[in-house]
Amino acid sequence: MVSENWQLQAYLKEHVKLVDAAMDRYLPGVETLPATLHDAMRYSVFAGGKRIRPILMLAACEAVGGDRENVLPAACAIEMIHSYSLIHDDLPAMDDDDFRRGNPTNHKVYGEATAILAGDGLLTEAFHLLSNRSVWGHVTADIQLEAIHILAKNAGSRGMVGGQVVDMEMEEKPVDLPTVEYIHTHKTGALILAAIEVGAILGGASTGQRQALCRYGEAAGLAFQVADDILDIVADQSQLGKDVGSDQQRSKATYPALLGLAGARQHANELRETALSSLQLFGDSARPLREIASYIVDRSF
Ligand code: IPE
Ligand code: IPE
Ligand code: MG
Ligand code: MG
Ligand code: MG
Repeated sequence: MVSENWQLQAYLKEHVKLVDAAMDRYLPGVETLPATLHDAMRYSVFAGGKRIRPILMLAACEAVGGDRENVLPAACAIEMIHSYSLIHDDLPAMDDDDFRRGNPTNHKVYGEATAILAGDGLLTEAFHLLSNRSVWGHVTADIQLEAIHILAKNAGSRGMVGGQVVDMEMEEKPVDLPTVEYIHTHKTGALILAAIEVGAILGGASTGQRQALCRYGEAAGLAFQVADDILDIVADQSQLGKDVGSDQQRSKATYPALLGLAGARQHANELRETALSSLQLFGDSARPLREIASYIVDRSF
């Protein structure tokens, strides 16, 4: 039950704490060999980060009245997958960025080879955790398998990795709106949608609830990357915690490049409305998801 004086900031803080504590339990420590690799994996995971994907997964589960304890392994796994994607995204062969989550990027600290392997380690560890029957509590093996299937599809060449490839192929090329939409819904939207869908199935969503939540996830996922494009232009590097201006520098296919800043902002607002209208069949239990949709669009980092 969500109370009257419910506050998004307190909700986010509480859920970040919950996810971070579980991540610390699930990730190998530096006492596990090889120490350098586990240190590099932990460096990026615990550098900060908004934890928006695990929080969305928990919020989707809560929206359908599920038990958030059942979601923690998958919530940690999606954050491991996301952290790996950031380490690889920052590599010289990709966006070649120096700052992430307020710190030097992984390859700046550990070198490129270890950064590539730290990403590989996080991706694989995510599926090691997801496939571990003993961490899933009351979740049935069928639901566990379905969650793994959704996460694998959305993280791979049909999802995030596919979007990253087209993002790079389209650098310095003229692009149209459908192409930018493809890039954004895949490189970023796919994992956000997976977070929502997995949260929904782990929470025991009905077919109708699951479909509505997926519509929310699609709109919120695209909105998240439109906002990221806008922040690359307007944000302050110290607040954002990562390089700014790198999209323009690499002539990336972005919404502001195509529609201008005002047009991109308007599109983000339309996506927020789509996300909110998808939640009409839910009551107060979806308040966190509603507020997060606005946070995604209005955030300053
Ligand atoms: C950054 O993601 C990369 C994108 C997909 C836009 P976040 O903005 O969620 O980064 P962290 O996890 O908070 O650092
Ligand atoms: C990243 O998009 C999407 C990922 C899958 C990591 P960006 O390249 O715009 O993300 P940032 O701005 O570097 O965080
Ligand atoms: Mg990129
Ligand atoms: Mg980048
Ligand atoms: Mg960006």
